[in-house]
Amino acid sequence: MGNEQLVERRHRALGPAYSHFYREPLYIVRGEGVWLYDDDGRRYLDCYNNVPSVGHCRPEVIDALSRQAATLNTHTRYLHHAIIEYAEMLTATLPDNLSVCTLVCTGTEANDLAYRIARAVTGNDGAICTHGAYHGNSTLVSELSPGFTRKRRKPDFVADVRPPDVYRGPYGAEDPDYIDKYANLVDGAIEELADAGHKPGMMIIDSIYDAAGVHTPPPEYQQLVHEKVRAAGALVVCDEVQAGLTRMGDHWWGFMDSGVVPDIVTMGKPIGAGHPLAVVVTTPEIAAEFARESGYFNTFGGNPVSAAVGKTVLEIVEQDNLLDNVRSSGDYLRAGLRRLAHKHALIGDIRGKGLFLAVDLVRDRLTKEPAADEAAEIVESMREAGVLVALIGERRNAVKFRPPLIFATEHADIALAALDQALEKHQ
Ligand SMILES: Cc1ncc(COP(=O)(O)O)c(C=O)c1O
Repeated sequence: MGNEQLVERRHRALGPAYSHFYREPLYIVRGEGVWLYDDDGRRYLDCYNNVPSVGHCRPEVIDALSRQAATLNTHTRYLHHAIIEYAEMLTATLPDNLSVCTLVCTGTEANDLAYRIARAVTGNDGAICTHGAYHGNSTLVSELSPGFTRKRRKPDFVADVRPPDVYRGPYGAEDPDYIDKYANLVDGAIEELADAGHKPGMMIIDSIYDAAGVHTPPPEYQQLVHEKVRAAGALVVCDEVQAGLTRMGDHWWGFMDSGVVPDIVTMGKPIGAGHPLAVVVTTPEIAAEFARESGYFNTFGGNPVSAAVGKTVLEIVEQDNLLDNVRSSGDYLRAGLRRLAHKHALIGDIRGKGLFLAVDLVRDRLTKEPAADEAAEIVESMREAGVLVALIGERRNAVKFRPPLIFATEHADIALAALDQALEKHQ
């Protein structure tokens, strides 16, 4: 059967809310390492997917998953060593006081639970999120995801602030007070909530502001924001679903780059390497306070198979020194992108860190007019050249590189050559 028929059947069976990448959607049937294979056996370099963190179909993960699935899969109401070992291993990668884990299945669930915890602990129901953010798809969390799902009016218990976007935001890096000015936006959000009769219970921060176009925050900004949020009686939640697990190249988790310690950390996607695993980590004090209000049970979250997978992923990250790999491959890729910026005027800005980079395309470097159509063409051309990337940002004009963490410099060379060629074509 041709792909057109599959597209049609998919549309009928799954409905129009589902989208797909590429004008002609790819039918991927196999993955291995950083490579994906389509139904014709054509191989593509995966520069986009972060979920297969340790590589597509990593044999050790498959082995751990299959062995545990063949032995036992239950839930957290029985004792099992694997979930405890996993929680201990995971919290060993975090600052000391972040030591209590709740295991769930998706990033959405993790952020939803973070809100419940924050509300229970602070007694406040307001939430601050950032402009353009995406934190998940439940009824509540989609309200905290203004960039994607909010076509309806914003509920009055939510306030958005602009993230520190020094390229297109209201304050550029040349402004000596830009850090304070971005941080002060949080005061405005607190006031907005107060005007609507709400006090803030939490502020949720994606440590790399991915959906807003990838912005690495200055540490002082994060520090100021944490202070302001806590002074208003709220908790700080760092969403590490995208930025975590060494992705940014300097620490296990993105917030650590800023020297801050949030009250709650949420994790997902890469920690399960393709298996639905997500975690909420908090302090013993906050966990105890939440438990006074509510118990917690999740049928699938924290089952022995998930725990076996999660442990194996952490072991691989350690054994393969993926933090070092992310730093060196990321620096290499970034340097290559900078060289391309000298050659191609379409490149307006290169943002991000480690193996999480965005190339902002503009029609004019002075006006910064977003080159969204060109960006879309470039993504298509790169796919034709066998390299998979996607678009990011509110204007859909930035090309996003966020490959598996095992991505090496030889892969970066392939990606850079494909981008170079695509930029030539679409200049
Ligand atoms: C930063 C961030 N948080 C949360 C989520 C939601 O995770 P999930 O799709 O597993 O519910 C996503 C998903 O893209 C995300 O990018």
